[in-house]
Amino acid sequence: MERHMTELAPPARLLLGAGPANPHPRVLRAMTASLLGHLDPDFLQIMDDVRAMLRLTFKTSNTITLPVSGTGTAGMEASLVNVLEAGDTLVVAANGYFCQRLVDIGSRIGANVVTVTHSYGQVVDVGRVRDELRRLPRVKALAMVHAETSTGVLSPVREMAEVAHEAGALLIVDAVTSLGGSELRIDDWGVDICYSATQKCLACPPGLSPITMSDRAVEAMEGRQSPVVSFYFDLTKLRQYWHERAYHHTAPISMIYALREGLRILLEEGLEQSWRRHELHGAALRAGVQALGLSLLAPEGHRLPSLTAIRVPDGISDAPVKRHLLTKHNVEISAGLGEQAGKLWRVGLMGYNSSPSTVFTFLSAFEDALQANDYEVAVGASVAAAQRVYAGRATAD
Ligand SMILES: Cc1ncc(COP(=O)(O)O)c(C=O)c1O
Repeated sequence: MERHMTELAPPARLLLGAGPANPHPRVLRAMTASLLGHLDPDFLQIMDDVRAMLRLTFKTSNTITLPVSGTGTAGMEASLVNVLEAGDTLVVAANGYFCQRLVDIGSRIGANVVTVTHSYGQVVDVGRVRDELRRLPRVKALAMVHAETSTGVLSPVREMAEVAHEAGALLIVDAVTSLGGSELRIDDWGVDICYSATQKCLACPPGLSPITMSDRAVEAMEGRQSPVVSFYFDLTKLRQYWHERAYHHTAPISMIYALREGLRILLEEGLEQSWRRHELHGAALRAGVQALGLSLLAPEGHRLPSLTAIRVPDGISDAPVKRHLLTKHNVEISAGLGEQAGKLWRVGLMGYNSSPSTVFTFLSAFEDALQANDYEVAVGASVAAAQRVYAGRATAD
């Protein structure tokens, strides 16, 4: 039989890159449930369940809280396109690869995009952003990435909300790699628009982008002079489907089952407990990596629990180590992006994969991959360092 006609049999990888992470087995089971139509009364109930659980997960009472069809970039595009019009000013606090995508989308809308540029690995500097907003006459929105997956940096959201509101601007937050894995409080912190993605700390496959919009953001959307330029991401239409059951596009039913189960698992555990779990395993991983003499890109105190960016040491090339992990250990990790291409290994511990067994599997495989590529390691040192963190005898940073 020709190869393209053979049965599909992808290898069962441990997905420890920047996402997707391995979905929870319960999520995969939920995806095989009987398909319903997108206007079936039983499905409408499932949509309501998802909206209710998303509000708990975002810690918000926002009426518009729903999953946009598409991956994280869909949520990013929906966030910008619904409030921005050509000629509006958008300020982007740019400290990595995904911030550049915000700039790109804002420019395509025709907004006047002003970038407050930071180098990769820096935390967003709230003071510099405040100065820029004070200098500009009228800013419609300020956008930032909470958890920069390209660098492993976590930036402050609450302070950025204060800065945005002082300037009369909306705060748009990318929480693709933080929702479910790091503390995030939409209402308490004053975030106006936030979007995420299912394939990271929500333990689902890629395919949906949860989004939430404050009353202030809804007001901005409703006060626009021109219609939203995207049909698919027009939230004035999408909310009619999610709230009033009016057809807009055929919902990806099985992905919505997946998200319902992913959120149920998260809330059964407890959101705060999930934040703590990500923090603990992230700390154990960082301790292990540092015990091998390797350094991290993100500064201490701002390290993302769900993604660790490890500097590739001098004299070693990144690709063979990554390839060794994949071919010998079935473990996927990610390479550096943008200006850090070739300079980083990025290791994700997201959702279902944030566990001690994953940490130990990775560290022992990583030691092996480093040794195979002529980087000398004290065998077992990384695993021992992680064990000390679990035993409460050490912290990573
Ligand atoms: C912080 C961040 N924003 C946006 C995206 C884009 O999401 P997607 O690739 O799911 O479209 C990613 C993807 O990894 C991300 O990490």
